[in-house]
Amino acid sequence: AEIMKGSFPHFMLKEIFEQPESVVNTMRGRVDFTNDKVTLGGLRNHLASIRRCRRIVILGCGTSYHSCIATRAIFEELTEIPVSLELASDFLDRASPIFRDDVCVFVSQSGETADTILAMRYCLQRGALCVGVTNTVGSTISRETHCGVHINAGPEIGVASTKAYTSQYLVLVMMALQLGEDRSSMSQRRKEIIQGLKELPEKISQVLTLDNSLKSLCENDLDGIQSLLILGRGFNNATCLEGALKIKELAYIHCEGILAGEDQHYNKSRSAFQQITARSGNPIVICNTGDTDMPEKTKTIRIPTSVDCLMGILAIIPLQLLSYHLAIMNGVDVDFPRNLAKSVTVE
Ligand code: G6P
Repeated sequence: AEIMKGSFPHFMLKEIFEQPESVVNTMRGRVDFTNDKVTLGGLRNHLASIRRCRRIVILGCGTSYHSCIATRAIFEELTEIPVSLELASDFLDRASPIFRDDVCVFVSQSGETADTILAMRYCLQRGALCVGVTNTVGSTISRETHCGVHINAGPEIGVASTKAYTSQYLVLVMMALQLGEDRSSMSQRRKEIIQGLKELPEKISQVLTLDNSLKSLCENDLDGIQSLLILGRGFNNATCLEGALKIKELAYIHCEGILAGEDQHYNKSRSAFQQITARSGNPIVICNTGDTDMPEKTKTIRIPTSVDCLMGILAIIPLQLLSYHLAIMNGVDVDFPRNLAKSVTVE
């Protein structure tokens, strides 16, 4: 069937607004909220070998790679298996060592990105157990891997990946929950996260109500800017990288995601904020609805709180909307940005 934009001017905006439903579709039939249990059927026959592996290597490109960065910490925390991340192209350039007792997870919206496919074949050849995480049933990556999980976000037409990012993120968290379910010391933590999953669709809807104020922010405060820096840390490092990618690719504004530091988060980010203010920077703060200690007149984008490891799903959404409005302001057709392809099928 033909996929329509409905009342939305662009597929990108439609797909951003679909996220309360696409995350439900990603979780459907897989999360048991009564017994705090996640079951990904696609992994069933390989669970034991995945749990026995010596490390998990998660690979992808572009936005998909950012979903890997976003979930690495929770993956390691819940599974206690070492996780390394690889940008598929760089991994191939290095001809990195891969062994039979490695598990390699390939994350790709299309399932057809050339570098990710080649990385998968390289790992298959070396005897690793290969797992696909794609949005496209029947794609090369879902066919050629040993097992996998479909993210079920529905077709993504906009060249800029939005709902696929949040669903990939979600599937990786779900995978970590399932792989770690035999660790009783973590049962409280798993419970807390699964409760967070339950509330996620409603919280995404709340974030989407910011759309109008984000549009005004773009028009009033960001018109004509040359450069935008996005700072954050911890679980939101990936949010900064992904937000910056969206803004530079769509709005053609110099934008950088910066890791604001390496240790625990709020107070340190606050000190970065003070230093920016002291140097006449013009900060906009994405913070939680309950944060009250921001200096008066600070421009804030307030989003609901969730469990730490799910915050990145909520925090990316204002940046998706911001990149959309900045692009429109700069006269860009966001569904067909210059020199960008939805899927890069050549090396
Ligand atoms: C290209 C696109 C990106 C996309 C990446 C991975 O670089 O421009 O938007 O995130 O490929 O695509 P995949 O389909 O593998 O997730």
